Amino acid sequence: MTVTVGTAAVEIDSVAVHFRSKKIDVTALREVSLDVAPGEFVSIVGPSGCGKSTLLKLVSGLLKPSSGKVRLLGDVVTGPRHDIGYVFQRAALLEWRSARRNILLQAEMRGMPDAGKRADELIEMTGLRGFEDALPHELSGGMQQRVALCRALLHRPRVLLMDEPFGALDALTREQMNVELHRIWRETGTTVLLVTHSIAESVYLSNRVVVMTPRPGAVQEIIDVDLPVERDYSETMALPKFSTAAAHIRELLGASMRP
Ligand SMILES: Nc1ncnc2c1ncn2[C@@H]1O[C@H](COP(=O)(O)OP(=O)(O)OP(=O)(O)O)[C@@H](O)[C@H]1O
Ligand SMILES: [Mg+2]
Repeated sequence: MTVTVGTAAVEIDSVAVHFRSKKIDVTALREVSLDVAPGEFVSIVGPSGCGKSTLLKLVSGLLKPSSGKVRLLGDVVTGPRHDIGYVFQRAALLEWRSARRNILLQAEMRGMPDAGKRADELIEMTGLRGFEDALPHELSGGMQQRVALCRALLHRPRVLLMDEPFGALDALTREQMNVELHRIWRETGTTVLLVTHSIAESVYLSNRVVVMTPRPGAVQEIIDVDLPVERDYSETMALPKFSTAAAHIRELLGASMRP
């Protein structure tokens, strides 16, 4: 039986993760608590190895916490959850399948009938029109990530997890993807939890930015970002609110890295 508690889309409640084996004894996360509201965009930044990917794995049910609880859409996460979308750093596309057929893989795995129309909508929304039949190696890195994003959004997940999805892209493509992701987020109303190493990306995209401490990871501070809904990239970067938030995050991360 599942019990619906609270209204958050994601509730992370006093979670800790220890990895223990003969060779490894690592506390990846200690006492992490975070609530993400439905429709909210939250970014997680923190030093390498502080447990960001581990946190997303807990939310998706790929990993169980050593202590504490995670709830997704009201239900305690006890195993892999298939009602979410997940985008990884590398697009992980099947090389022998066209862009469109890579997107439709999601539908095949779920036995979703009539997903073609939805796939076409997403192709349009992400500017992939004209490249539906291209194979992954015929697409740029940014286009491949768009295909991965379409695949993650095909089943209209209420929660989208993204783990450094734009880390492998050049700076300009990354900015363009940020603008597109912001628009898609507004259009779909999906709750997003994004892990990123880019402070600018986190501030530009998010309602809130979670800054983590070095491992064992804990929440150092949560920064509210209150930018206008309409976000031209250059204009947003020039806003005092943007630079204040970015400088604060940089300061927090810098302080946590100093010996
Ligand atoms: N399956 C695992 N078994 C053992 N240790 C693990 C496992 N997964 C992660 N760890 C350890 O947990 C810690 C956190 O790893 P995690 O991948 O969550 O970090 P991260 O914040 O995502 O880092 P990065 O920014 O480099 O991607 C690291 O010390 C890592 O070695
Ligand atoms: Mg990681």
